[in-house]
Amino acid sequence: MCQNRPFSKKSIKNSKEGNLIKVGEKSNKSKYEFLRLFYTIWNQITNPRARVIIDTHAGTGLVNLNIKRSLTKTNYSKKIYGSPLIAIIKTIKISQNLKIILNESDPYNFAQLESFLDKVQNEGLPVFEKIEDDFRYKSLETGRKRKLKQNKKKNIFPEEFNKKLPIGYKKVLIHSKGEIIAHNKKIEDNIQCIIDDHLDKIDEKSDSKPIALFFVDPCGIVDWKKVIELICNRSNKREGTEMILNWSWEAISRTLPTKFKNSTLSKIYGIPIEKIDKEFKDILTMKDFLEKYLGQLRKYFKHVVEVGVPRDRKLKPKQSEHRKYFLILCTNNQSGLSLAGYQKEKIGEKLRDGVIDLNTFIYQNNHSDN
Ligand SMILES: C[S@@+](CC[C@H](N)C(=O)[O-])C[C@H]1O[C@@H](n2cnc3c(N)ncnc32)[C@H](O)[C@@H]1O
Repeated sequence: MCQNRPFSKKSIKNSKEGNLIKVGEKSNKSKYEFLRLFYTIWNQITNPRARVIIDTHAGTGLVNLNIKRSLTKTNYSKKIYGSPLIAIIKTIKISQNLKIILNESDPYNFAQLESFLDKVQNEGLPVFEKIEDDFRYKSLETGRKRKLKQNKKKNIFPEEFNKKLPIGYKKVLIHSKGEIIAHNKKIEDNIQCIIDDHLDKIDEKSDSKPIALFFVDPCGIVDWKKVIELICNRSNKREGTEMILNWSWEAISRTLPTKFKNSTLSKIYGIPIEKIDKEFKDILTMKDFLEKYLGQLRKYFKHVVEVGVPRDRKLKPKQSEHRKYFLILCTNNQSGLSLAGYQKEKIGEKLRDGVIDLNTFIYQNNHSDN
């Protein structure tokens, strides 16, 4: 049985927001954009089945995003939702039968995360709902009352606590009906427990095991044998397990010139240390290291793709050796690929249950609630 620390109704910690993880816009913007889209659509597709999101390296809940103004060459920062709060807000309206498991090893980061979860549980998260009746506002130009053109979106899910309310919307605080569980553990020591306790049990309503979506965002090395292989084994090319992995080239490149090269590669790729020299004989460039890793994942997932790279583009975006992180989507469901940057019209495939085709589905989602 995993030992989790369920957050209490009262505020447990007095963590200051100054201890938030700091992230740069350049390497994180696309990560958060993708998560916002993927969590929303994954949740809508998999609902109403039992489903679990597992954020293996959850961080502080909210992050301090550093933004560079290129024109004035000045910097400023804003606090936006990190992956745990994105998972909660993006599923908040359809959260029955959903678990969100947030795992974080650092005690200070965990305390910070807990304080936000506490706030979410006590107060709820702000969502902007369209005001249905004719909304009139006073024109600044003419001073006359004018009818506001109705915006299409019924709900707007802000990306931060203090987002300004748009005209024609009211702020409502919503509680997730999902079960939110926080673990202050190293993921290597906890993942088997999470799988046993939450993913391997048959859900009575659907008479099947829950659907799982792992988000692995280590900001460095993640152990293949102790973490990734367990997720891969659960997948084993069957539907019901997906993984988004933030793969760090930085973690590899910084150890290549050091005496830790072989032990690091052994850990990342799960290859015995004595075989590293032979296995990596012809692996020289960043592209080679990435392809080898993707190849390993492809043994367990039907589709392994780099997010943001269209399938039929002959030329991939320039893979600069200075690029540090690669977001990888591993899925067994072809419809998930369109979200990763593939051209959606190329996929004629019907979604699960054959209810609706993907183009209609994405169109509806872009033009309605989310
Ligand atoms: C890149 S940050 C996570 C950011 C977060 N996913 C987000 O997008 O808001 C990586 C986090 O992993 C935590 N961490 C590092 N090693 C870990 C481990 N072995 N198990 C669990 N968490 C770990 C760090 O303390 C840090 O908070």
